[in-house]
Amino acid sequence: MIAKTPGESRTIMTDMVLPSETNPLNNLFGGELLARMDRAASIAARRHSRRITVTASVNHVAFNQAVPVGSVVTVDARVSRAFRTSMEVYIDVWIEDRFTGAKTKANDAIYTFVAVDDSGKPTEVPAISPESELEQERFEGALRRKQLSLVLAGKMKPNDATELRALFTAES
Ligand SMILES: CC(C)(COP(=O)(O)OP(=O)(O)OC[C@H]1O[C@@H](n2cnc3c(N)ncnc32)[C@H](O)[C@@H]1OP(=O)(O)O)[C@@H](O)C(=O)NCCC(=O)NCCS
Repeated sequence: MIAKTPGESRTIMTDMVLPSETNPLNNLFGGELLARMDRAASIAARRHSRRITVTASVNHVAFNQAVPVGSVVTVDARVSRAFRTSMEVYIDVWIEDRFTGAKTKANDAIYTFVAVDDSGKPTEVPAISPESELEQERFEGALRRKQLSLVLAGKMKPNDATELRALFTAES
């Protein structure tokens, strides 16, 4: 399989925040943002693998900034690394200033998707060739994030998480 770039899977979804999607403080409800990110990330994983993809785990979410009702929100997802059948998808969330149009980073998240065949069995995906410095940085961190996720899910023994352990044992 020929390797692909993160740019080939990039998926950008822009939408506004309606009153029915907010919490009692009139800010975007967290679960609504999770769903928007899941949708964009799912399309990115599908673009990379050209397969059916399922969400295997949500590895990280940071709700750094509240998103007020009426905001224009852009969810920007791309595959940051592909393993054998799984893909890490990095999602950046931006909000647009109503008057200037300037975009501010509000949140980010990292999801893991698995490509499956018609019977739901995991199937191989193409590798990733990062291009930009940021893509390279995200690519390099992806293996330890995968190991952390597997350890937390009880699917990997901490002792086998070599890349993750190296973080704590490296000499400063
Ligand atoms: C995701 C799913 C396909 C994995 O199936 P499985 O039998 O555990 O398959 P495997 O053990 O072969 O794992 C497949 C890949 O997923 C990865 N994976 C599984 N669980 C993971 C987790 N919690 N975090 C990170 N990666 C994970 C494995 O490391 C493996 O990756 P690799 O092939 O790239 O090395 C299966 O659990 C499933 O179908 N889950 C439901 C998905 C779903 O319905 N999502 C929507 C939620 S409503």
